[in-house]
Amino acid sequence: MTADLSTQYMGLQLPHPIVAAACPLTGELDMLRRLEDAGVAAVVLPSLFEEQIEHDEMENHRFRETHANAFAEAMTFFPDMDEYNSGLDKYLDHIRAAKSAVSTPVIASLNGSTPGGWVRYATQLQEAGADALELNVYLVANDVHQTADDTERHYVELVQSLKEAISIPLSVKIGPYFSSLPNISARLFAAGANGLAIFNRYLYPDINLDTLEFTTELTLTTSDDLRMPLRWIGILRGELPDASLAATSGVNTTSDIVKLLLAGADVTMIAGVLYKKGPEVVSELIAGLRVWLEEREYKSVRQLKGSMCAGFTAYRAAYARANYMEMLVNFAAPDVLRSSQ
Ligand SMILES: Cc1cc2nc3c(=O)[nH]c(=O)nc-3n(C[C@H](O)[C@H](O)[C@H](O)COP(=O)(O)O)c2cc1C
Repeated sequence: MTADLSTQYMGLQLPHPIVAAACPLTGELDMLRRLEDAGVAAVVLPSLFEEQIEHDEMENHRFRETHANAFAEAMTFFPDMDEYNSGLDKYLDHIRAAKSAVSTPVIASLNGSTPGGWVRYATQLQEAGADALELNVYLVANDVHQTADDTERHYVELVQSLKEAISIPLSVKIGPYFSSLPNISARLFAAGANGLAIFNRYLYPDINLDTLEFTTELTLTTSDDLRMPLRWIGILRGELPDASLAATSGVNTTSDIVKLLLAGADVTMIAGVLYKKGPEVVSELIAGLRVWLEEREYKSVRQLKGSMCAGFTAYRAAYARANYMEMLVNFAAPDVLRSSQ
């Protein structure tokens, strides 16, 4: 019996749940073709940043006086951004080129933190042919006067203004740091989001003690990073049975994919493993998923999906405090500690 690997994400019908996450690899046509040859279900393009759009807009309109601060910030930010991805027009060109190079769905990505004029440009991403849009909200609340409610309203307003601009599906890539993730998730869906990508990976500064400079280094995830998305996908699937949920952070192996599907993910997104093993890893992951299902006589991904989510009483505790207590109680101190006494 051949297992049916198909899944749905925000109304997109996909042959299986393995999607290339937003990263510079999907900004290269050659890589997109290799991903397609390896059978990837969909691709998310690298993000276009709010600052890039505002930068282009200000350059075009000589708008500097009224937005002096934002402009100055954008200018200091830009030398590096040019390396990453060079502005709105190039981004639109890349969407068009990607759409003609591959036949998999192409999800564009906008990365921002503030509701504002820049969201209008989402319409252009749609017109360029994007099949869906992922909004990465990278918002660091660093002001003592900014309340949790202010912050959450930002998210909701961003979603509302984007939904006014586009008719293609919209997912929101969020971080885990909310007092109530189920509540903000439900509010984002109520505001019009069609899916959530769980989780945005926050990258933290470090300090070089020789130069007293901040350093920024991106380390790739391992399967250990999967457990935070696993918990929250499991809880959200229980609370929001019909929501479209993508898991991202830590997906490196077939086992990782199976675990996230059991918790309730509709799709699993991969970036780091593409850098470690190349786009061809996608075909290995698909084959591995098929073998896993067929050896255990699962008929389909649909049958597996969410079958161990927190919506089932038997699993509820595993996603909550009881699991934490059990881990603490079962932790064994290394033998070396005892032998030195
Ligand atoms: C080099 C690199 C660049 C990335 N750029 C973006 C980006 O532009 N926008 C975005 O939303 N996520 C970006 N990400 C995050 C990935 O989309 C993904 O969510 C994250 O790496 C976790 O998945 P992984 O464990 O498979 O790497 C980037 C990741 C890497 C490794």
